[in-house]
Amino acid sequence: MTTPVLEARDVTMRFGGLTAVRSVDFTVNSGEIVGLIGPNGAGKTTFFNCLTGLYVPTEGTVSYKGTVLPPKPHLVTQAGIARTFQNIRLFANMTVLENVLIGRHTRTKEGLWSALLRGPGFKKAEKASEERAMELLQFIGLAHKRDHLARNLPYGEQRKLEIARALASEPGLLLLDEPTAGMNPQETRATEELVFAIREQGIAVLVIEHDMRFIFNLCDRVAVLVQGEKLIEGTSDVVQADERVVAAYLGEPFEGAPGDAEAAEVEAAEAEAAEAEAEHSTKGEAQ
Ligand SMILES: Nc1ncnc2c1ncn2[C@@H]1O[C@H](COP(=O)(O)OP(=O)(O)O)[C@@H](O)[C@H]1O
Ligand SMILES: [Mg+2]
Repeated sequence: MTTPVLEARDVTMRFGGLTAVRSVDFTVNSGEIVGLIGPNGAGKTTFFNCLTGLYVPTEGTVSYKGTVLPPKPHLVTQAGIARTFQNIRLFANMTVLENVLIGRHTRTKEGLWSALLRGPGFKKAEKASEERAMELLQFIGLAHKRDHLARNLPYGEQRKLEIARALASEPGLLLLDEPTAGMNPQETRATEELVFAIREQGIAVLVIEHDMRFIFNLCDRVAVLVQGEKLIEGTSDVVQADERVVAAYLGEPFEGAPGDAEAAEVEAAEAEAAEAEAEHSTKGEAQ
């Protein structure tokens, strides 16, 4: 049975004379991966900021599992919503492992400062925390880089590390703001798999992304924001086919969407590799 995890009701955000988000109703149900798309400046990040307490909406409410959230980021995190940022926000001069441990501070009794200062209380909780952090690093494929400084990671791995850090707060809902920005097609594919794996763990996901192929592959439902208003919401098929979406956002049919050529290349390369593999194993059997 699906139950609402996140419910935004009539959310409006004004900056002076500018209405960045206008009367948006929005729901994410348990087990869902939902996409939020729209042109640059449509209000997607602002909407995320309203959901996570970074902004106090001018009007409207945001509920998590039936309880209205106080618009304070740490309380929202504590309630069970974690996020990543459009512009990566890691502690650049801390290690990969430390970055994930910091993500855990809302879930451990000891808190952030004790975690940073490694006080006596922290040491006790340290072992369990570290085990969980390593589990998460394993999960995203960065366990081997636990002691590297975050700033020395390639861009794609920094994005993954941000996801691990968000997961460290043990959320029920994960918000991803352009998780594949700056990634190559292979990394984007891997991120797709990662998001599916996150959902498998019982975490609902709301994702903003420009890569239409990524969104329509991944999402159960997609909502389109244009000039702060929700233009349409529905399954990938319905949204993809909507003339207004094509006109307002995609500009051309999805088949010709930017990134398609690259994706086709990856597919071809993968198919070739699979063929080679198959040939190889047939030979092996013959011997
Ligand atoms: N803190 C802010 N103060 C004033 N205007 C803002 C602020 N944040 C966003 N905006 C404006 O709100 C609109 C929506 O921006 P944003 O939410 O970043 O769009 P998107 O993420 O869809 O590209 C833009 O016109 C942007 O300039
Ligand atoms: Mg944005």
